[in-house]
Amino acid sequence: MAENLYIPEGAGKAEIYETLIPQIRNLVAGEESLVANTANTAAALKQAFGFFWVGFYFDNGKGELVLGPFQGPVACTRIRYDRGVCGHAFTTRATVLVPDVDQFPGHIACSSASRSEIVLPLKDSGGRVIGVLDIDSDRLDDFDSTDQEYLEVITDLLAETLKN
Ligand code: SME
Repeated sequence: MAENLYIPEGAGKAEIYETLIPQIRNLVAGEESLVANTANTAAALKQAFGFFWVGFYFDNGKGELVLGPFQGPVACTRIRYDRGVCGHAFTTRATVLVPDVDQFPGHIACSSASRSEIVLPLKDSGGRVIGVLDIDSDRLDDFDSTDQEYLEVITDLLAETLKN
């Protein structure tokens, strides 16, 4: 397992993702622990991009997503399925890109500094949605289809490690 991440300096977003993804693959390879793999993935994304907040919420099977491993300021602990960007991504099983959180009805402001957001469903190896990956930026319109494409590769990588 790699102990240090290599992040190319001054590189564009796509190049950083291209460098990061094989390293995340190595970090999670052969490890079945949901906590270990999501914790390292959150740390790797935070370290590579300096996002304001990167973390996971997991389905508790009782109508709520519960805070999991994350990097960034303290955050809301529980989110109902019918609330927020996280609940929307979870229930629709689809990535949600929010260029301006103030324009998303029902957005949950864990921090007033968050301006834009991307949330991806997290699946297990059987395709069941078990939670979400949520990334927040303190800049407006900070996420695009490049982020979506590469982050979906990362959630797919995680899914392979998560037994159903
Ligand atoms: N903004 C999210 C809540 C989670 S925090 O941003 C960490 C939402 O609307 O679901």
